[in-house]
Amino acid sequence: MSRERAKLVVGNWKMHGRIKDNAALLTEVAAGASALQNEVSVGVCVPCPYLAQSQALLAGSVVRWGVQDVSAHAQGAYTGEVAAEMAADFGVTYAIVGHSERRAYHRESPELVAAKARRALDAGLTPIVCIGETLDERESDATEQVIGGQLDAVLLVLSEEEAARIVIAYEPVWAIGTGKSATAEQAQSVHAFVRAKLVEKGAAVASVPVLYGGSVKPENAQELFGQRDIDGGLIGGASLKSKDFLAICQAARTALQ
Ligand code: PGA
Repeated sequence: MSRERAKLVVGNWKMHGRIKDNAALLTEVAAGASALQNEVSVGVCVPCPYLAQSQALLAGSVVRWGVQDVSAHAQGAYTGEVAAEMAADFGVTYAIVGHSERRAYHRESPELVAAKARRALDAGLTPIVCIGETLDERESDATEQVIGGQLDAVLLVLSEEEAARIVIAYEPVWAIGTGKSATAEQAQSVHAFVRAKLVEKGAAVASVPVLYGGSVKPENAQELFGQRDIDGGLIGGASLKSKDFLAICQAARTALQ
């Protein structure tokens, strides 16, 4: 059984979207999410050039918007980077940090991810800290060691009060974009491990939402979200189609009942 806590479902558009196509997706998601009656919080993390469009179309709706990364620096000579404060100028709520695609393709270290989480918090944003193991790491029984290390790096630099304001997303790298989701049991077992580490950090941190990500689709969402320590999802591919994304949001609501 899942805990009696509101669920959170956040879309990660990655490098997808065009201004001419986004309007329909954003307005459909806003309309569909309004029926979820506060039991499911919904967010979309869009590419930075579409923040103004997201703000214009989502302000006043129940859907919050966010970015997929922030700089570890406050401002300065960092060509190409976007500061958390700049995202905050567009009414952003969420900032994904440490997505496995950034850890892998941009060599982001656990310490850099921790610095980004801190910047997001300082700017008043909610960091969604992604953690996850590769297939090799899972097969060599290193899942808890890898995830524990990624999580510890972030918790180390935050006070208990700050850590209580983050969101964690467990995303096994082998399940991202592959169509091959973790089973509900595999995910729950890692989520329970993550929950125990959060509890260790302090009572206020124990109820930090822990999302699952990696090939979540309408067909598997309810079973995943029904697990005790799974508080919702971070959704990639399926967040690009309003029908699928809303079906996943609805599955989160059903899992609560
Ligand atoms: P996916 O991506 O749902 O397409 O597997 C999830 C993510 O990378 O956040």
